[in-house]
Amino acid sequence: MAAEDIVLVDDDRVIQKMVGSFLERSGYRVRKASDGIEALEMVNERVPDLVITDVRMPELNGIELTSRLRRNHRTAGIPILMFSDLGEARDALAGYAVGADDYLPKPFELAILEAKVESMLRRSASATTQANRGRVILFAHAKGGVGTTSLAVNTAVLLAAQSSRPVGLLDLDVEFGDSAVYLNVHPNQTLADLKAPPGTIVDEAQFAGFITESGSVRLVVGADLPERADLVTLPAIQLAIDRLSLTCAYVLIDAPASFSERTLTALDTSDLICLVTSGSLPSLKATRGCLDLFEKLGVPAGRVRLILNYSTTHAIDIDTATSVLGRRPDFVVQHSDSLDRAANSGRPLVISDPKDPLVADLRKLADAMAVTKTRR
Ligand SMILES: Nc1ncnc2c1ncn2[C@@H]1O[C@H](COP(=O)(O)OP(=O)(O)OP(=O)(O)O)[C@@H](O)[C@H]1O
Ligand SMILES: [Mg+2]
Repeated sequence: MAAEDIVLVDDDRVIQKMVGSFLERSGYRVRKASDGIEALEMVNERVPDLVITDVRMPELNGIELTSRLRRNHRTAGIPILMFSDLGEARDALAGYAVGADDYLPKPFELAILEAKVESMLRRSASATTQANRGRVILFAHAKGGVGTTSLAVNTAVLLAAQSSRPVGLLDLDVEFGDSAVYLNVHPNQTLADLKAPPGTIVDEAQFAGFITESGSVRLVVGADLPERADLVTLPAIQLAIDRLSLTCAYVLIDAPASFSERTLTALDTSDLICLVTSGSLPSLKATRGCLDLFEKLGVPAGRVRLILNYSTTHAIDIDTATSVLGRRPDFVVQHSDSLDRAANSGRPLVISDPKDPLVADLRKLADAMAVTKTRR
């Protein structure tokens, strides 16, 4: 791994040299500046991993430098450590006020400086990893056969087409999962084969064996046979979500029509829940019950998107559906016989017939997910 890059700013050449050499000996790459202007030039040339700055300097001082860095979106997230002479509490407060992350009074022990640098870099690296994680979206339903898998698979393909990173699809229907059928792929391994006791580290290379690629969609399947469903453990599910979200822009989870421990594990980790209902009365009533359950479980209403999918031919109109559900659906997906045809041909509808009107509804759903992601 390349050495982390630090911009060190101090007009006192002795401190600059002493601190700079010490950090270099500790394995960091250090670029030294004598005032804020010079530091800004260096940062603009290449954004560093950390800035360490003195407060009192000629030209642009440390407070002004910090405030300039925080105002620019390219440099707003750089961790900044300030130092200044002991007893200058005002300097420390002014530094924190403009966005410095930490403060060290001079004189300081070099070992303390090193410990602070290390911990700031570690925190910032983990924040970057978290920020880059893919958005986890659970597709849930209260009553079976309402089109959940069809919507999850097709939305995954749409999102993959508009993302620079792949999209993960986790089939949690451990008994009769059929995402692989809809994508016409044949997974070699399923989560039922993942015998990792809790706490075991499964790295990316090992997990790759559980992924089946279909274009830019990365499918992970719960189990291959219904009798192996019990082998799918909760840690395996957590691990799959975690691993997929590290490399994928989105992770869509296709859950069965049951709120088992497995579904609840996925629910807890999800950023967004798409609750799918058909327009039939039993499905609408069960979905209402499911919304009540979410409330009892403390799931924030803002995390739930209600999708009325007209999968059946004799569906109830939207106003009656709204009164049964107790709220208006956020998305409506129209009926299309092409969906079954596409499933039978093993090609998702969004690929086999992208002009089908149902695909336009799915695009709205996919776009809304992408918007929610940028706002996160
Ligand atoms: N909008 C729609 N128009 C026409 N047919 C649809 C629509 N949505 C789903 N279907 C059809 O409904 C059937 C069930 O769909 P799907 O398997 O996606 O449902 P599901 O909710 O995942 O079911 P399960 O509870 O078994 O997991 C499929 O034949 C599918 O093609
Ligand atoms: Mg399904």
